[in-house]
Amino acid sequence: MKELIATFTNQLEEAFEIASKQAFNAPDRPIHNIVICGLGGSGIGAKIVSNWVQNEIALPITLVNEYTLPGFVGPNSLVIGSSYSGNTEETTMALDEAKAKGAFIFGVTSGGHLAKFCTENGYDCVIVPGGNPPRSALAYSLVQLLNYFNKLGFISAKSLDEVQASIGLIRNNTAEIDVIAQELSTYLFGKVGVLYGETKYEGVIVRARQQFNENSKYLAWNQVIPEMNHNELVGWGGGDERFAPVFFNAADIHPRNKKRFEITKDAVSKKSNAVFNLEAKGDSLIERSLYLIHLVDWASYYLCERNHADIMDIEIIDYLKSELGKM
Ligand code: PA5
Repeated sequence: MKELIATFTNQLEEAFEIASKQAFNAPDRPIHNIVICGLGGSGIGAKIVSNWVQNEIALPITLVNEYTLPGFVGPNSLVIGSSYSGNTEETTMALDEAKAKGAFIFGVTSGGHLAKFCTENGYDCVIVPGGNPPRSALAYSLVQLLNYFNKLGFISAKSLDEVQASIGLIRNNTAEIDVIAQELSTYLFGKVGVLYGETKYEGVIVRARQQFNENSKYLAWNQVIPEMNHNELVGWGGGDERFAPVFFNAADIHPRNKKRFEITKDAVSKKSNAVFNLEAKGDSLIERSLYLIHLVDWASYYLCERNHADIMDIEIIDYLKSELGKM
């Protein structure tokens, strides 16, 4: 996992290489909505991409982390299946439903049932390199989704250019990222992490929580501002030093949310006795997101070391899948 985290920018480059070789069939009907199906390490890329493109794309994007599709899905829906193994049953069953509803379908996977399903039905599918934990393959799903939207004419090439720019940003800040990641892991150790960010960074903070869960064997939760100002902030009345709040700050936070961050930090720090400020670097939402994602990946690695845990172990997920497989 250490090697996979360290080579994140190489994976982004490889993802661009894969994307450059893809040719796609344009939809043979107008597309009115987009649905992306995926769970865990394969669903998070869709959440992050939907945050990134929401101000540009003219179509609504719905994320499905379940067995069933929303009622609006029909022939004018683009349904994307994202499953690293290709065998996640919630995703494959949702795609069976998409096929039955006559939707236009696309897949992103390293193989398995999803690859077979796409081949057999004549749906486009991008095959990414397999054999690693799905959470370490985020670079591939991010780039393939953006590339697909770009090739279909839903978004300009700007997002892809910004991912390219992130490669240099991360490489130029490797030493600094490492120091902050170690500080963050020290701060979180022995406490319950509470991760706060603005709504357009929700994918980033969900990814952070997932990485702490899976890599570090650590419980945390995440909430967005402003929504948490309307409920969870009151919950801090019962907060104390067991909790370790982390604020994901960025230059593009809405001015009114900046003020909300200040007031929230002040209120929360009175209970937790400390807050950790993570400041994103970069010139765009995408660069800032990838900077934070990479920094947290390292923090999850260091926190795993502190917890003396096995970073690769996801035995309980494997057990659960095998028990369901017997049904
Ligand atoms: O990290 C993991 O292994 C999980 O979160 C998986 O990504 C999730 O179970 C879905 O599996 P897949 O990515 O193969 O569709």
